[in-house]
Amino acid sequence: MDGIDLPDLTDGRLRLRPPEERDVARVTAICQDVEVQRWTRVPVPYTEDDARRFVQFSSDGLSHGTGVRLVAVAAGADGVLGPDAAPDGDADADADVPPDAGEDAAPDGDEGAVSDVVLGAAGIDIHRRDLSGELGYWVAPDARRRGIATRSSRLLLRFAFGPLQLGYVGLWAAADNPGSNAVARSLGFTFEGTARDAFLLGLPGEPDRVRGDANRWGLRPEELT
Ligand SMILES: CC(C)(COP(=O)(O)OP(=O)(O)OC[C@H]1O[C@@H](n2cnc3c(N)ncnc32)[C@H](O)[C@@H]1OP(=O)(O)O)[C@@H](O)C(=O)NCCC(=O)NCCS
Repeated sequence: MDGIDLPDLTDGRLRLRPPEERDVARVTAICQDVEVQRWTRVPVPYTEDDARRFVQFSSDGLSHGTGVRLVAVAAGADGVLGPDAAPDGDADADADVPPDAGEDAAPDGDEGAVSDVVLGAAGIDIHRRDLSGELGYWVAPDARRRGIATRSSRLLLRFAFGPLQLGYVGLWAAADNPGSNAVARSLGFTFEGTARDAFLLGLPGEPDRVRGDANRWGLRPEELT
């Protein structure tokens, strides 16, 4: 597999695209979230330089065929799931992201504009020899519980199993991370076992960190839901 040509990856509600320099502030703000820091392998502390490295990492992955690491943005003017999408009780969901983190996407007076603000990220690291991959994702705190992880992962997996011809995609999720395990289940992944004590829980630099179990999930093309 050489370089990867990315088609327009959208399901009509959500679009996946490579991260760009203009996303650096927003990605940096999202990656301050303790859940992202706790459950993914983003650097801690996370700086704008780390977000720039993410932009470069994404670009390199596409150039070399080693991975497809994309960000999710809305594809329609109504937002990802329409104006009524926010579930009840979600009023404080944007607490962890600065209120101005990306307000430039829909200029005043341009109400029909489609927001290009990063809502989440989904990536697959590709093992070319096996034609297999490893999935990872995060979603901005102000955009959670609206199906964004599921939708963006599904779009990416269709691309991986279709044009990229992968035959298997795996996912590791901490046993203590209910959200990530639920996303895997809703995509059709099969629970393939638990690696005991595989993860060092907590954040780098925290005292008294303990080890925790990691759940292994696996998905073959015909199993994607
Ligand atoms: C885990 C995470 C990606 C979920 O993103 P999301 O966009 O809110 O997930 P979705 O809305 O697509 O939810 C998919 C399913 O998971 C469930 N879910 C989501 N978050 C959940 C939570 N915290 N607890 C329990 N279930 C949860 C939803 O109810 C939904 O279930 P359903 O399909 O049965 O209706 C998001 O909370 C996050 O970014 N967490 C921090 C980073 C992280 O954990 N990344 C994964 C590392 S392996």
